Parts: sequence; structure tokens; C-alpha cells
Amino acid sequence: MDWMKETDDQLRRGAFLMVEGNPMTIGWGQFGIIWNKQTFSVYVRESRYTHELLSHTTTFTVSVPKNGTLQKELAFCGTKSGRDVDKVSALHASLMPARFGGQDGFSGCRFHIECRILFRTDLDEHLLENESLLSRYYAEGDSHTMYIGEILGVWEEAE
Ligand SMILES: Cc1cc2nc3c(=O)[nH]c(=O)nc-3n(C[C@H](O)[C@H](O)[C@H](O)COP(=O)(O)O)c2cc1C
Repeated sequence: MDWMKETDDQLRRGAFLMVEGNPMTIGWGQFGIIWNKQTFSVYVRESRYTHELLSHTTTFTVSVPKNGTLQKELAFCGTKSGRDVDKVSALHASLMPARFGGQDGFSGCRFHIECRILFRTDLDEHLLENESLLSRYYAEGDSHTMYIGEILGVWEEAE
């Protein structure tokens, strides 16, 4: 299975960023090599509950749906905050226990990418060298923090 390509394809529709049982839909993220480690990086705005959860956590898991599935769940987890609702319960969903020391995944997904945070940094949006992106994404501030996660393990969920 080419899980990297499948993740890239699915990110256009969304994947679940899992931290302490709270699923947040993400559309941004990428694989890469840095410090000679295989990594996956995610970007979370300061206003998200997930940002608060990550401030006292060292791991995250990205749960990737089979292409085109779980659209209702992705929409819900991309518009509701874990501050206001327990999203997993509200969706009658469940968690898949972590296997590599990361965070529990969102059940019903194709596979789960467990990561340990290697590096985190707040993006200074004013360093963005493209004015139209600056006004499109940061008109109200609320910049992103980038989290570079070392991939601890990737595992497929049984169908
Ligand atoms: C398709 C889609 C992709 C999204 N991608 C991101 C993302 O990469 N980073 C981010 O901070 N928010 C992203 N969001 C918005 C969050 O998912 C949304 O604000 C969510 O309600 C935050 O949940 P939380 O407060 O429980 O963390 C996305 C939303 C959707 C629908």
C-alpha cells in the first residue's frame, strides 16, 4: 500500500488529527525527512482546542480515512470544538488504542500514523512572502503552530 500517496490524496478531503481523544479535521500536513528522521508535520491554529491539548502533550496521531469515506465525521470534527462537545461520543464513534506509544486513533479509518513531536514552532505569518496568502489566511491573525512529528509507526486497520 502506498500510504503516503493515499494520505496526500485524502488530505484534500480531510484526515483526523487525534490528541487526547479529541479528533480535529486537518487539511494541511506533509511527510518529509529532517534530522535523518521520517516525519509528518501538522499545522494547528492557536484558537483550536487541539492547540491547547498539544501544549501539554508530546505525541499525536493522524487517522486517515479510506478515500472518500467518513465525510460526515470529517465535517463535524472540522466545525465543532472539543471545548464544547465530546466529538467521539456525539458521532457514536470510538477510539482505536495506540500501538506505538502515540495517541489513540479514530476508528473506521484506513490507517493511523503515530508521531512523537520532535519540534514545534509558532509561524510568524509576517514572514510569509506572498501578500495574497497573508490576507487570505491571516487577516484576523490566529496563526499556526507547526509540529514536526517523528513517525513512530503506521498501521492499517482491519477492514
Ligand atoms: C477540511 C478541513 C480541513 C481543516 N484543516 C485544518 C488544519 O490543517 N489546521 C487547523 O488548525 N484547522 C483546520 N481545520 C479547522 C478545524 O478542524 C476546526 O476549527 C475544528 O473545529 C477545531 O477543533 P478543536 O477546537 O476541537 O481543536 C480544518 C477544517 C476542515 C473542515
